[in-house]
Amino acid sequence: MIVFLVGFMGCGKSTKAKQLANRLNCAVIDLDAEIVKKVGKSIAEYFAEFGEAAFRKLESDTLKIYPYPETCVVATGGGLPCFFDNMDWMNAKGQTVYLQMTPAQLVSRLGNREKRPLLKGMDDEQLFTFIELKLVERNPFYTQSKVILDAFNLDAELLEKRLKGN
Ligand code: S3P
Repeated sequence: MIVFLVGFMGCGKSTKAKQLANRLNCAVIDLDAEIVKKVGKSIAEYFAEFGEAAFRKLESDTLKIYPYPETCVVATGGGLPCFFDNMDWMNAKGQTVYLQMTPAQLVSRLGNREKRPLLKGMDDEQLFTFIELKLVERNPFYTQSKVILDAFNLDAELLEKRLKGN
């Protein structure tokens, strides 16, 4: 089984992916980290040099050509499910889990905004408004996930249980 964790920046996809993979004793793949490895630049540098459209194409290609082992947990970038047919592709390929949080919870967790090109330079108020608007746009994609979980205070044990339908 391949588990894809999706959700907004700051909802804990990378951390939860590692913890869940540990519990399932399987590989963990962080697609943002794979992109950084592939292009030899940070995501922020790539955005600045080539723009968002080029990043979205690269992100989708990386999702689709990665040689996934039979069992693994994949942390996806926050925007990935919302471009091209990526969400359908993930749903066809494995188990999708939306780690849902409220805008206020996300603001409280997004301390370091500089490494995220879409959030650069925002104060808390601007970030709150940005997240509210983005979630209106993104929730229709995120909520196509097979499992939707309240991710605030979610521990890996509960995540594993929910994933197995308990
Ligand atoms: C993005 C989220 C980031 C990264 C890029 C764009 C987004 O990933 O892919 O900065 O559009 O939400 P994280 O969700 O891991 O921060």
